[in-house]
Amino acid sequence: MLSIISQHPYSIPCTHRILALLWETNNMDAFSSSFVSTLGLATPIHSFTTATAPKAIRALPPLSSPYSPILNVSTSVGIDEKAQMPTPTPTPTPTSSSSSSSSKRSPTTSTGKMRSPPPKQRRQQLPSLIFNALDDIINNFIDPPLRPSVDPRSVLSNNFAPVVEELPPTECEVIQGSLPPCLDGAYIRNGPNPQFLPRGPYHLFDGDGMLHSIRISQGKPTLLCSRYVKTYKYTIETQAGSPLLPNVFSGFNGLTASAARGALAAARILAGQYNPANGIGVANTSLAFFGNRLYALGESDLPYSVRLSSNGDIETLGRHDFDGQLSMSMTAHPKVDPETGEAFAFRYAPIPPFLTYFRFDAKGAKQADVPIFSMLRPSFLHDFAITKKYAIFADIQLGMNPMEMIVGGGSPVGSDPSKVPRLGVIPRYAKDESEMRWFDVPGFNIIHAINAWDEEDGNQIVMVAPNILSVEHTLERMDLVHALVEKVRIDLRTGIVTRHPISARNLDFAVINQAYVGKKNSFVYAAVGDPLPKISGVVKLDVSKGDQRQDCTVACRMYGPRCYGGEPFFVAREPGNPEAEEDDGYVVSFVHDENAGESNFLVMDAKSPNLEIVATVKLPRRVPYGFHGLFVRESDLKNL
Ligand SMILES: [Fe+2]
Repeated sequence: MLSIISQHPYSIPCTHRILALLWETNNMDAFSSSFVSTLGLATPIHSFTTATAPKAIRALPPLSSPYSPILNVSTSVGIDEKAQMPTPTPTPTPTSSSSSSSSKRSPTTSTGKMRSPPPKQRRQQLPSLIFNALDDIINNFIDPPLRPSVDPRSVLSNNFAPVVEELPPTECEVIQGSLPPCLDGAYIRNGPNPQFLPRGPYHLFDGDGMLHSIRISQGKPTLLCSRYVKTYKYTIETQAGSPLLPNVFSGFNGLTASAARGALAAARILAGQYNPANGIGVANTSLAFFGNRLYALGESDLPYSVRLSSNGDIETLGRHDFDGQLSMSMTAHPKVDPETGEAFAFRYAPIPPFLTYFRFDAKGAKQADVPIFSMLRPSFLHDFAITKKYAIFADIQLGMNPMEMIVGGGSPVGSDPSKVPRLGVIPRYAKDESEMRWFDVPGFNIIHAINAWDEEDGNQIVMVAPNILSVEHTLERMDLVHALVEKVRIDLRTGIVTRHPISARNLDFAVINQAYVGKKNSFVYAAVGDPLPKISGVVKLDVSKGDQRQDCTVACRMYGPRCYGGEPFFVAREPGNPEAEEDDGYVVSFVHDENAGESNFLVMDAKSPNLEIVATVKLPRRVPYGFHGLFVRESDLKNL
């Protein structure tokens, strides 16, 4: 029977039913990750025995239920809920339960205005049965997950597999060195963690956002907490017990599949299963702190306001529309000026204006939109940069390509090699786009920007960013992407743009000392892709050396065989000291050891030549690979 399952990789519903039968026979061994491994469907994180894996797995739903929460089992992933420490003790706190109860709230805006209440849970009512059956037909016969980039068994393998449930604040153990006193606050990282087993195409970018926070208090134990961002999508799907919204990145490849899923989505909306006006985002990309609020972000929706309680728990406050001033969506990479407290952001759209720029004052109040009509085609615009005078946008070769979907059967997001990438420069306090200028920069396709600043009395702009070589692989074959960090100089007087690489390595997910956003800086801490999206180490670059056309790497730490980290983050040792050196601080990151199946939190000395590890915190449970993070200081956490 097992071989039958493995020979029919796309018979996911069938597989699920077989697994359910095994569960009902109380065959715990068969339900372990080693069983999943035996299926040959994925490489599990661990091979557990029942003695070592007291999983908190809920009973499978009855066979009549067509969907299973991912916490039951996955045909594609090794589900791992073994605690890494012998006796992890969830910290009993009142807010744990309050957070839990908050997860059951109806989605609200964090300005207090009620959104439309979600539909009540439907226990396999006829419309749900029909819609879910149609979904299965689409997933199995019209658009099965044939490509590795959307095959859950590939995308969710190893430590990309989701953790099966939330983790309340749980004590961690410092197993090496000691935590520096300046680490007083919380490091929080966002990433995808799909709530339900994907039954069809699934892209890495599609998963529900989960925040993993490590709370560090001077002289006190550290606490790890993992909580979903309680988005509208997450909430109504939890209540429904099954997926309702289609996967944005993987669900619309090819005309037939797009039409089928579009029709099914329309039917669900008409039946009242969900209201897209309440947001379709998964808030899985990043976090930002401005205007005394902390946000979980995903660029297809509004920000979700979140807070950390004093006991280390994470609570979603609600979808935040800034008193009705922010509509549709916002980038997951706003830029906060450390001196003024202002935040700068944008959104992009498939219809004109394809780009809209806006900012928030220091109190977090959104200012007027600046529509950019000189962005002539819909472009994939994930990040941007600011200086003290300007905002800089990249119009790259990756964009909406509906013809590719219709004719080629591919994704509606694709690359256009005939398009010349451009950089657009607009005064950062512009009220309209009349002063915006565009500069052709052939071959320059950036997804992320690291920093930018003004030089020559504002007549030149310098930007540092990873240039994605072979940008056409960004969504489908991330492993083929090489990101070359370049230093770009735009001369506003002559219009000449000059560029040169500052490292030959494959580097992305780069950060700087946040006190230097928009200002000239020297040091960059970048993740080493090996290949992307896996990250095998971190390098420190001194970009001031870039003008001498030399490799700017000044320090490096590789995590070791089968050990992979995430985006690094720099925490200044004396954030309030204007005399402090730019690199006086610590680089932190979650790192996962695939040999042991364990995750650690590493603290590295940013000034040391080898990014010396000064503290290793063993985490009570693994933290899946994810995207962007943030360190929020205790003084800011108290104001949330
Ligand atoms: Fe990003």
